[in-house]
Amino acid sequence: MKLLRTQVLIIGAGPSGLLLGQLLYKAGIDTLILERQTGDHVLGRIRAGVLEQTTADLLDAADVGARMHAEGLVHHGFDLAVDGQRHRIDVHRLTGGKSVIVYGQTEVTRDLMEARSAAGLPTIYSAADVQLSGLDSDRPRARCTVDGATLEVHCDYIAGCDGYHGVSRASVPLRAISTFEKVYPFGWLGLLSDTPPVSDELIYGRHPRGFTLCSMRSSTRSRYYLQVPLTEKAEDWSDERFWDELRHRLDPAAAQALVTGPSIEKSIAPLRSFVAEPMRFGRLFLAGDAAHIVPPTGAKGLNLAASDVNYLSQALIGHYHERSDAGIEHYSARCLARIWKAERFSWWFTSLMHDFPDEDGIHARLQRAELDYLTGSEAAMTVMAENYVGLPW
Ligand code: APR
Ligand code: PHB
Repeated sequence: MKLLRTQVLIIGAGPSGLLLGQLLYKAGIDTLILERQTGDHVLGRIRAGVLEQTTADLLDAADVGARMHAEGLVHHGFDLAVDGQRHRIDVHRLTGGKSVIVYGQTEVTRDLMEARSAAGLPTIYSAADVQLSGLDSDRPRARCTVDGATLEVHCDYIAGCDGYHGVSRASVPLRAISTFEKVYPFGWLGLLSDTPPVSDELIYGRHPRGFTLCSMRSSTRSRYYLQVPLTEKAEDWSDERFWDELRHRLDPAAAQALVTGPSIEKSIAPLRSFVAEPMRFGRLFLAGDAAHIVPPTGAKGLNLAASDVNYLSQALIGHYHERSDAGIEHYSARCLARIWKAERFSWWFTSLMHDFPDEDGIHARLQRAELDYLTGSEAAMTVMAENYVGLPW
């Protein structure tokens, strides 16, 4: 058996784990990352790509913002398309000058991985069967299997950055954790293609046949989504069927401007709202998707992960450098105050824009009334814009 020791053991090399590792490295705190998958597998996952300014600032503080600034697209607004009519939400004006950066999560992860390997910091990929113990003692530890051999890691703290299906949250005794969950009765069918985006800004569309989103990764790569029933399978959607359905749901100008091409990726994702409380158990901290999931409408997932990591890095820096455990004590409450507001926004935006097949007629009428109110009221648009760019930390 091999034995290793580190100050902060990080479980998971997604954006949360990697960003935490980078911020702690900059503060001179030792980390080791255990990741279940290979690096290529982690980079193969396609996820949302809208960064709040505070997320971008944190990536800058971690010295990984250069490519994001060079290649990311700054967006000052987005469109809501309702029954064939587009309404622009001028985020920049409504928020007194704020904006978001469109830059794929895959690229954020790649930049973080490159920074970690350039700094010579240890990440153990393909770490199988990670098990955590001693979480409520002062000697937490993990065991796993790497290349058929057992590895044990001793540490001061464990950061559970291992996503919704990870081992960290599952290691907390049931009596010590509460979970809150809502599963939506539809999924998003996503398609990535090397075609120019249909518009300069994102279009969130509400159509009687369901929600659509026109997004992008660059001026030559588009990402589109269609609301589909959960019974659908991606294999049953040829590219042609996808483009036909998208064109059908778009407003006339967008339908005409749409450039189609072969898909690079196509998959269906379920939509879920989920929060686990509290986010600390003894010496285990949960961060990112390990603690909470938002439906993707509004793209808050990565931004919430970044805000957890901001609070967690501050808490650990306070512990190691300022002999203060106040940040550790308040970690969970600080994170959750922001998380629940983003959960509310993501739930609201999802509820507003999708077709809910099991609801009766009054639901659809109320939804229409709300969309009409939103697109006609400066106050309502301001509330939306303020949440879209991200609430302050
Ligand atoms: N042991 C080690 N690693 C694990 C384990 C395990 N038992 N279980 C999961 N992992 C790894 C996964 O393979 C993955 O690489 O943890 C990582 C978690 O990464 P993400 O799921 O990307 O979660 P996070 O880093 O919190 O990023 C949040 O991802 O899902 C999106 O919308 C979300 O954008 C947000 C971001
Ligand atoms: C994406 O580009 O994948 C994306 C953008 C905005 C969202 C969700 C997903 O709200």
